[in-house]
This record gives sequence, structure tokens and C-alpha cells, in this order.
Amino acid sequence: MLSIEGLVAGYDRLEVLHGLDLAVAAQQAVTVVGANGAGKSTLCRALSGLIKVRAGSIRFDGQDITHASTSARVRAGVIQVPEGRQVFPQMTVLENLALGAFVHGAPRDADLDPIFALFPILRERRDKHAGMLSGGEQQLLALARAMMSRPRLLILDEPSQGLSPKAVALVADAIAEIRRRGVAVLLVEQNLALATAVAQVAYVLENGQSLTHGPAEDILSGSLVADSYLGH
Ligand SMILES: Nc1ncnc2c1ncn2[C@@H]1O[C@H](COP(=O)(O)OP(=O)(O)OP(=O)(O)O)[C@@H](O)[C@H]1O
Ligand SMILES: [Mg+2]
Repeated sequence: MLSIEGLVAGYDRLEVLHGLDLAVAAQQAVTVVGANGAGKSTLCRALSGLIKVRAGSIRFDGQDITHASTSARVRAGVIQVPEGRQVFPQMTVLENLALGAFVHGAPRDADLDPIFALFPILRERRDKHAGMLSGGEQQLLALARAMMSRPRLLILDEPSQGLSPKAVALVADAIAEIRRRGVAVLLVEQNLALATAVAQVAYVLENGQSLTHGPAEDILSGSLVADSYLGH
């Protein structure tokens, strides 16, 4: 479904990704792990079109989206939940969800029902300001908002950031269920518990390149991952 070949991207004079290859199959969750600064968020930004691709290609569903606009990618179903969640604290849960549906017009109850079935806590909190929610609830809201955009590929940049182990487990359950509903997932994660719970395939990123990849359970329990976290 997603096929990245020889991806080169960066910022001004800094090249961060130096020819990255990565693939995500339909209905699959792929996790990308790697040390701080390895280029994980840069990969997410290049995929959603927030930074320009300098070389290489990104194909999504057989379509070349290497240089497509951000909005064209969103319409094609490539939806990102950025680092740090970025829900709007002064807006209600319902208003935040409406923003996610904006791509398709105003949300109807028909859109909200399956979302609330997946995230029952958000139905209870629907009229609360997002800023009043716990960190875990805000992450669930960010996921729910992304689901309102009807993703075919969901890109998640460190959804466990700042969450308690209990909240991480809730987020893991939600992501696993989203995948079971047929959405492919690209999960950038430093939290091995979450990555292991969700992903079938894992990539280790080092210095802007894919060092290795394989079945998530093998890669995530391997010494290479321990090494890459230690910054070797
Ligand atoms: N907006 C930016 N402008 C310039 N350089 C940046 C920018 N964002 C990131 N970088 C640099 O690009 C490199 C890769 O950063 P990136 O954020 O992709 O790493 P990461 O793997 O997501 O790290 P982390 O685990 O800390 O989130 C780093 O050297 C970083 O300093
Ligand atoms: Mg990052």
C-alpha cells in the first residue's frame, strides 16, 4: 500500500534522510524505532508532505505521491497524528472531532457513532474542553480526530509521549483496533511495549537510513534495538 524508495529529505542545508526504503502492506501496522534525532519525525513530515522530498519516491496505492500537496495526500487517505498530539485545548471534544471531519464536510452523527464506539470515553467527554482531558484522553482524542478524516494509512508520531503505562495500554488497544478495522498504520515509537503490542513489522532507523527490518517481535526484542537506544 505504501512504498518508499531511496527517500532523501531534510531542512535547509541539513540532509536528515539519506535514501530510506520502507514499505507498509494493506491492513498492516509497521513501527519505526530509532534513537533521538535518527529522523523519525522527519520521515513522518516527508510522508504527509510537510517537507519536500529531495530524491527518491513515495507510492501510495500505486499512485506516485512523492510531490503531491498535503491536501491531496489527506484526500487520498494519508492522515498524520503529529508529535505532541496538538488537540485544541480551548475547543470541546466534539469541536476537535469536527475538525477531523472537515476534509469531508461537517460531521454527522453517522460519522461520530463508530468513533464513539471505538472511544467510549470521548462520548462521555464530548462537551468538555480538550484541555480538561487527561494526557491519555487527549491522545485518544487525537486518534479519534484522525479517524474522522477516514484514513487509509494512519501515521502516528510517538503517541506514547508523556503518558503513564496505563494510558499507553489504552492507546495501544485503540491503535490495534483501528488496524483491525482495516486502516494501515505507520507507528513511530520509542515505547517498546506499545510498538510490540501494535506492530507486525519493525524497522530500525539509524542516521536517516533503515538499518534493518523484519517481524516486530524479533526486531524489537533484539540487541540491535537496545544498541540503537543507547545511541551506538
Ligand atoms: N524543523 C527543523 N529544522 C531544522 N532541523 C530539524 C528540524 N526538525 C528536526 N531537525 C533535525 O533533524 C534531525 C532529525 O530530527 P527528527 O525530529 O526527525 O528526529 P527523531 O528521530 O524524530 O527524534 P526524536 O526521537 O527526538 O523525536 C535532527 O538532527 C534534528 O535536529
Ligand atoms: Mg521525533
